[in-house]
Amino acid sequence: MIVLYKSSTGFTQKYAEWIAEELDCRALSIKDVNINELQNYNTIIFGGGLHAGKINGLKSIKNSILKMKDKNIIVFATGATPKEAIKIEEIENANFSLEEKETFHLFYFHSGMNYETMGIGSKGMMSIFKAMLKIKKDKSPEEQGMYDTITKSNDHSKKEYINPLIEYVKTITNIR
Ligand SMILES: Cc1cc2nc3c(=O)[nH]c(=O)nc-3n(C[C@H](O)[C@H](O)[C@H](O)COP(=O)(O)O)c2cc1C
Repeated sequence: MIVLYKSSTGFTQKYAEWIAEELDCRALSIKDVNINELQNYNTIIFGGGLHAGKINGLKSIKNSILKMKDKNIIVFATGATPKEAIKIEEIENANFSLEEKETFHLFYFHSGMNYETMGIGSKGMMSIFKAMLKIKKDKSPEEQGMYDTITKSNDHSKKEYINPLIEYVKTITNIR
């Protein structure tokens, strides 16, 4: 079993390390992985942060890991949106084809925003997004919630959020 991640500001890495600790395996950044070595693992867990609804790093695994039919594949996304406001099917629909959806199980973990470690490109995108929301009159409750969520750095990540994923992996791999 191995946990892979793509993390720009650290949230997904933190979740990947928590998962690896609970499942007693390694967590590795996707950039440090030799795809051929993944043949040695029966269960592969991949995580990335949401960027405008898309799971960061997913492209790099679509043509490799998601095509490994004989493996248990688990994907998790992290994001600044509270879990209650997230529809997991919407993340699935925005990121995967019908065929791809058959190949893995998806989880979502609430994280936050970290402007301290964010790259300059993402910071620029967020400023434009914030400015657009700010000037918008009659914001819906969702838009107001989004504006409050992204205005400054915040961290809502909690180790306990990984519990459903851990339970799922233990069930499918018969670990107790
Ligand atoms: C450019 C940008 C776009 C984002 N888009 C979303 C989004 O669509 N939905 C969401 O819930 N969070 C969004 N976020 C917040 C990130 O998904 C969140 O901070 C995530 O945990 C980042 O993971 P990482 O630091 O491991 O890369 C966005 C952040 C940035 C910088």
